[in-house]
Amino acid sequence: MLTLNTSDLKPAELQNYLQYAIAPRPICFVSTIDKEGNINLSPFSFFNMFSINPPVCVFSPSRRVRDNTTKHSLENILEVPECVINIVNYGMVQQTSLASVEYPKGVNEFVKAGFTALPSELVRPPRVAESPVQLECLVRQVIPLGENAGAGNLVIAEIKRIHIHEDILDESGKIDQAKIDLVARLGGDWYCRVGKNNLFEVEKPVRSIGIGVDSLPASVRNSDILTGNNLGQLGNVERLPSDEEIAEFSSDPEMRLILDATIGDSKTRERELHQYARKLLEERNVGDAWKVLLM
Ligand SMILES: Cc1cc2nc3c(=O)[nH]c(=O)nc-3n(C[C@H](O)[C@H](O)[C@H](O)COP(=O)(O)O)c2cc1C
Repeated sequence: MLTLNTSDLKPAELQNYLQYAIAPRPICFVSTIDKEGNINLSPFSFFNMFSINPPVCVFSPSRRVRDNTTKHSLENILEVPECVINIVNYGMVQQTSLASVEYPKGVNEFVKAGFTALPSELVRPPRVAESPVQLECLVRQVIPLGENAGAGNLVIAEIKRIHIHEDILDESGKIDQAKIDLVARLGGDWYCRVGKNNLFEVEKPVRSIGIGVDSLPASVRNSDILTGNNLGQLGNVERLPSDEEIAEFSSDPEMRLILDATIGDSKTRERELHQYARKLLEERNVGDAWKVLLM
């Protein structure tokens, strides 16, 4: 294992390791305004949501690694503590990247990157009309994390009004995770797109108290076939199937085939049962997977 002390690394090396590893990061596309009324628009992936009540986001315009200067977004926020956080989707990603070019202070990146400025209702910086979700925010606090090149500045922004394009909503009026078509930033020039094909669900373990991986039988816990994800699914059940439920499942056609073909060969039987259980777990059928494993 490569082990590194952060104090031995140059800012550019730290940036490389950490941005590849701490990823994907959501992108906030922030519009700000200075006290003369000049508008700025810049993307930041050191960004996330940190509180629901009050609704608070944090993003970080860092001091430039190259020459230790500060970003215009930060300077604007220190003059006018308001911003709009515009969420970036796949359809906007190239123009968003263009807006990160270091244009001189006062240059309006709405114009440079070709976005439409929509007046905000509560704050002075405008919204990006093309963005699927626009969050009008008041900046509560700015916390500088250092004075050297690469030091972040935490901008703590309280969301006051949310605007959502209706075409990303489902029938119940909630955001459809596939329709919003988000993108996120990774290391180097890498981005990822969150589309239908790479979305999956992990059932929340809050509704029940799972038995835990430590309660699984040793043959299951030490299986060469079941993965860590499979063990997590198996440990997330509240109770194991009863003897009657297991006996009933022995008439399942695939189960029957395995049992008939492996009479007297317990090693092969265990291997095939684990493979069948893994297939059921991939189909999110945890109940039947347990019956197979306890057969
Ligand atoms: C997708 C993306 C994410 C970025 N994230 C950050 C970030 O989190 N912090 C940062 O300081 N710069 C980040 N940058 C670079 C800034 O957007 C860039 O320095 C921008 O020009 C700053 O503009 P300003 O000086 O007008 O505020 C990012 C660039 C892109 C394209």
